[in-house]
Amino acid sequence: MSVLDADIEEIVVSADQIDDRIAELAKEIDADYDDREPVLVGILKGAAMFMSDLARALERPTRMEFMAVSSYGSGTQSSGVVRILKDLDFDIAGEHVLIVEDIIDSGLTLSWLLKNLQARDPASISIVTLLRKPDAVKVHIDVNYVGFDIPSEFVVGYGLDYAEKYRDLPYIGRLSPAVYGG
Ligand code: IMP
Ligand code: MG
Repeated sequence: MSVLDADIEEIVVSADQIDDRIAELAKEIDADYDDREPVLVGILKGAAMFMSDLARALERPTRMEFMAVSSYGSGTQSSGVVRILKDLDFDIAGEHVLIVEDIIDSGLTLSWLLKNLQARDPASISIVTLLRKPDAVKVHIDVNYVGFDIPSEFVVGYGLDYAEKYRDLPYIGRLSPAVYGG
C-alpha cells in the first residue's frame, strides 16, 4: 500500500497481471533469441521497473544498458524532436539490441531512437514495450513484443510518472482528475 493509491481512479493493469505477462514475454524472447545474447537497452526513467523485472524473468543471459532521452514538446504531447540526455556507454556494433520501453504513445520518440541506434550498425534491433496506446499504429514501427494494449488515457505507476511522481506504484493506474488540479 502507498499513500499515492488515493490519487488513482482506476487500476488499468494490476501487479499480478504485469508479473504474468512479463513471464510470457520472457518465454517468447528466450525462444526467439535462441543462441543470441540480447543487449537490453532500457529507456530511462520509465522503463526502469520493466527492464529489471524482464531481465530477471529471462533465462538467457543479457547485458543491461540504459539510455535517457527527452522529447521536446508541450505538456504530455511528444514532438518527435528528441535530445539524448544519457547516451549508451557501450558500442552496440554487431550486437543484438533489444530496446526496452515503458509505453508507446505517438511512437515519435521510438522512431527517432530506432534510426539513431540503427546508424550504429547493430546485428539486429528488436523492440519490447510493456504498454502501447492506440495512436502508436499511426507510426509504422515494427514492435516485436507488446505487453498490453491500453486505451488512450494518461496512466502512471510501474515506472511511469506524472511530474516525476507515481513511478514507484507496483501497478498501472489512471490518475484522478483532481490530481491535475482540475
Ligand atoms: P511517444 O513519443 O508519444 O510515443 O512518447 C512516449 C513516451 O512518453 C513514453 O516513453 C513515456 O515516457 C511518455 N508517455 C506516454 N504516455 C504516457 C502515459 O500515459 N503516462 C506516462 N508517460 C507517458
Ligand atoms: Mg519513456
